[in-house]
Parts: sequence; C-alpha cells; structure tokens
Amino acid sequence: MKNSTYYSQEVDIHQDIEEILLTTEEIQTKVIELGKQITADYTGKNLLLLGTLKGAVPFIGDLARAINLPLEIDYMAISSYGNSTQSSGVVRILKDLEGPVQHKNLLIVEDIIDSGQTLHYLMDVLRQRKPLSLRVCTLLDKGRERIKPVKLDYTGFEIPDQFVVGYGLDYAQRYRNLPYVGILKSTVYEDDILEPQKQHQSPAEDA
Ligand code: IMP
Ligand code: MG
Repeated sequence: MKNSTYYSQEVDIHQDIEEILLTTEEIQTKVIELGKQITADYTGKNLLLLGTLKGAVPFIGDLARAINLPLEIDYMAISSYGNSTQSSGVVRILKDLEGPVQHKNLLIVEDIIDSGQTLHYLMDVLRQRKPLSLRVCTLLDKGRERIKPVKLDYTGFEIPDQFVVGYGLDYAQRYRNLPYVGILKSTVYEDDILEPQKQHQSPAEDA
C-alpha cells in the first residue's frame, strides 16, 4: 500500500514531485511584475480582488502585497464534480461574495486555467451582477484547447498540459503547501485509479 498520499505525517511531501516546474523565486519575481501592471492599470479606480478558494490563496496573498493600491479582498468557493485530476464541467457555488459588486472593478484571481469551464461559469455568474469591470488574473495557464473560451487579462506562466501541484494547487487536497509548483509523479494518482477506494471521497472538489 502506497502511503504517501494518505499518511503524510511521516513522509516528506517533496518526494512525490517528479520535477519542479516553477521555483519559489520565479513565482515571486512574476508576482511582483503582475502587481506592478495591476497597480498601473487600476490607479484611480476601486479594486476588488476575488480569490477562488482554496487554490488561489497563496497567490492572492502575495499578489495583493505586490499591488500598491487601496483594495478589497473577498473569496468565492466554486466546486466541480469529477475525479481528482480532471474537472467535469459541472460547477456550483459553495461560498459566495459578502456583498454586491455593482460599483466595483472586479479582478478574479485564479490559480490555474485548464479547460476554462470553471472560470467561464464564474464569469457568467459575476457578469449578471453588473460590476463596473470584470477581469481575470491567473498564475498558470495550461494552454490546452479550451472547452469554454475565456479571455485572460493577466497570466503568470503558460505551462504544459501536465498535472501540477503546490503554491495552492492540490491533488486530493494535498500538496497545497509546497512553496513551488511541481509536476506530481504519475504513480501518485495512478495508484488511486487502480485502487478507487483511495480516491477523494467527497463529491465536491474545490477549484
Ligand atoms: P478548468 O475548469 O478545467 O479550467 O479547471 C480549473 C480547476 O481545475 C482549477 O481551479 C483547479 O482546481 C483544477 N486543476 C486543473 N488543472 C490542475 C492541475 O494541474 N493541478 C491542480 N489542479 C488543477
Ligand atoms: Mg483543485
């Protein structure tokens, strides 16, 4: 029985990583750059950063500190049903914003865009609330063919179509605390496919 996913107290989480794709330093440099751009673009405007729980938490924390403007931060939790390494396109809101956004410039802060389905749904919902403006900042863009088209206003890195974890990104809720973005060893999730009882039990997957 492979115990790295389920008995992590005793094991080094770094051992499940095949390759570090983006180092802490590379991420920090990019976040500072994005923060400068956003500061320039939103000077003189109100700004509400909307983070998607749970994956965008480290990114929004660092990004907010790189933006030199008065801003607000709020969070939404969006869930999609499916297995742990592919999103299904069925999406629902688990946690909503605290207040109306009609007089606010909204900037969605996402960890990763893959098929685009989650973001497409979120933008549909938010557009109906008539914010002053609605834009998207994502740390990672998987750059594969979108199932749903989405326009990304700020992108940190384009990455290959491989399953990545760390800096907020999870596999079955693990590895969010890695300080870098890495490619997960495929043996970690192949084991889960072979032994389905080990898969994430909850029907709802956090985005
Ligand atoms: P989309 O709806 O296919 O664009 O998927 C977006 C969501 O899928 C993200 O918010 C993540 O939760 C998850 N996701 C997609 N690719 C990865 C990955 O490589 N690692 C971890 N989560 C991912
Ligand atoms: Mg996730």
